[in-house]
Amino acid sequence: MGAVSISPATTEGEAATSLAIRNAVAPAFAASEADEADAKAWYREHLELVASLDGEPVGAALVALEPGRESRRSAQLEVAVLPTSRRRGAGGGLCRAASAWARERGLETIEAWICDEDPDGLAFATGRGFVPVQREGRLALDLAGLEPPPATPPAGVSIVTLAERPDLLEALHAIACEAFPDIPGEGDIEPPGFDEWRDAYMGGTGDSPDATFVALERGRPVGYAKLHLSGARPGVVVHDITAVRRDRRRRGIARALKAAEIAWSIAAGYERLETANEARNEPIRRLNEKLGYRELPGRTLVRGPLVP
Ligand SMILES: CC(C)(COP(=O)(O)OP(=O)(O)OC[C@H]1O[C@@H](n2cnc3c(N)ncnc32)[C@H](O)[C@@H]1OP(=O)(O)O)[C@@H](O)C(=O)NCCC(=O)NCCS
Repeated sequence: MGAVSISPATTEGEAATSLAIRNAVAPAFAASEADEADAKAWYREHLELVASLDGEPVGAALVALEPGRESRRSAQLEVAVLPTSRRRGAGGGLCRAASAWARERGLETIEAWICDEDPDGLAFATGRGFVPVQREGRLALDLAGLEPPPATPPAGVSIVTLAERPDLLEALHAIACEAFPDIPGEGDIEPPGFDEWRDAYMGGTGDSPDATFVALERGRPVGYAKLHLSGARPGVVVHDITAVRRDRRRRGIARALKAAEIAWSIAAGYERLETANEARNEPIRRLNEKLGYRELPGRTLVRGPLVP
């Protein structure tokens, strides 16, 4: 049996290999090279690793410190080994190297998302003492031949795009800071300051002011919803955030924003809209159900101790 070697991905070619392996193992969550560059620019720090068997790359990991999550004292890990090369020690080796990096930074635990479609992941994690802490369902709306739902905002509310009203950006930041802590599982995350939010949440390659919709009530922003446009999966567009001011909820504003996103996606020629909802997020789950989204396999966030 060949020997496993773990090494940091330091060149562009090694980083591309790492991304290709992670995308092959979790195609439903595939990232484009541009998405990946955005994420790396956002992380406080990160380390990328490649696992090889007899000199052939068969596994990859990206371990990072995500801004706002410092109080968790946890590193965020993505780890993937190609199905044909499993049970040979590559995954364990990647976790040990990621743990050593996290330990050097004074962290105590690791968090990783495990896809339902890949049951080996959960068995691997629970065997190392990881426990589920968060659950995300995935949903899809097939757009071919779909009649867009009626975009009828409540009285006094109109929908514009951020491209039409770029002056609204600061007001959207205030709405985001109100909404983020209300998303189950995200309550402990420190909301980003304006500059970080503008760059990381609104200024990525997949963000577009044309695909960002703002609800105005008598001229004042009360909610927004945006799409993430990634080249990773052709024909697929993903909902990013939907956020409505706390004092304006349950009036049909989110429904009107989502209707605008659906109409935009159909007009732009996309085949499918996807979204991920935290299992405890009753409001958005019910709204998506009403709009006709169908369930897909989801994923589970597990947290566990650093590997010795
Ligand atoms: C989710 C959110 C955007 C909904 O905004 P909203 O404007 O209140 O939603 P709407 O009034 O358009 O609701 C439309 C439907 O969604 C469902 N819904 C909305 N809020 C709900 C709640 N608190 N409980 C149960 N169902 C709810 C209902 O089916 C509702 O239709 P109904 O009022 O006819 O029953 C808002 O609660 C919010 O900003 N939450 C924090 C951010 C978040 O979790 N975003 C989603 C993940 S990105």
